[in-house]
Amino acid sequence: MSRIHWPDEDIPLKEPVELEIGFGRGDFLKRIATLNPHITYVGVDRSWGSVKRAYKRLKDLKNVHLVWGDVWPFLMFGARGVKFHRVFSLFPDPWPKRKHRERRMFSPDFWRLLAVRTKEDAHVSVVSDEMFFVRWAYDNALSTGCWWGYVSETNRRFGTKYEEKWLKEGKRVHQAVLIKDGECDFRIPETTLRIPKLKSVRMELKPGDYPLGGGAYLSVKEVVVSREGDRMLIRAVVSEGPLLHKVWFVLYRKGATWYLKPSDFSRYFPTEGLQRALDLLSSILGG
Ligand SMILES: C[S@@+](CC[C@H](N)C(=O)[O-])C[C@H]1O[C@@H](n2cnc3c(N)ncnc32)[C@H](O)[C@@H]1O
Repeated sequence: MSRIHWPDEDIPLKEPVELEIGFGRGDFLKRIATLNPHITYVGVDRSWGSVKRAYKRLKDLKNVHLVWGDVWPFLMFGARGVKFHRVFSLFPDPWPKRKHRERRMFSPDFWRLLAVRTKEDAHVSVVSDEMFFVRWAYDNALSTGCWWGYVSETNRRFGTKYEEKWLKEGKRVHQAVLIKDGECDFRIPETTLRIPKLKSVRMELKPGDYPLGGGAYLSVKEVVVSREGDRMLIRAVVSEGPLLHKVWFVLYRKGATWYLKPSDFSRYFPTEGLQRALDLLSSILGG
């Protein structure tokens, strides 16, 4: 493995490719990648601690690629050249409380997106100590009409940290196995960003929350203006369904024209929500 990837990177991958979502310490990835050197493995985890630990374990394996980030943008924008043959998610956070339900990964929309990014007849295994969670993931998959499968208790051992933990506590391991059964529609809200140009500006913007329409929000956290008054930096978060863009927008002047764009050191994806944020900011700053 050469280095760790961003979720929106176009990683060149040799098929067949399998995916593990939330690899934690990387125990399972190490085991299957060692057993199957002819298969390429991609692991995605949003915790930097997990990525660091797993990288130490996996760095000598040539058929493994690690992605640091959320699986939603990865499936929307990353490694678009391939479709996955198998997908594993072992002991994902079940978020048992009702009010946290929307944080759970395997919603109907997530299954639709998975169907777009997987091969015909692909298998997805969702494994958990929580039967209610496995059942919830399974019901959501079936509700999309593009997956079929089964739910069962399993004696298969994956050798991960959380599996060890739950078995020690005397819990059982359950799985939902889903097989792709046709194509599904999932629209990725991608667009080519238009950079607003302004003839004049008002260097005033209040931190706060601004609705963007289409279920997206702009939250302005901090505004910094240069002493000369010719540059403004805006630290903001744009939330757009499951996507979070963490952006420093920069407003600057070139000749007689002002430009507003996301700075190069931000983590953002080129989507309709981000375009709405640019348009709203330019309408406020353009007076
Ligand atoms: C409970 S741990 C399980 C780790 C490992 N699979 C195991 O069995 O020990 C859940 C893992 O999923 C990762 N995770 C949770 N939500 C994620 C998301 N939306 N995208 C990527 N990784 C995620 C967490 O960072 C964490 O490492």
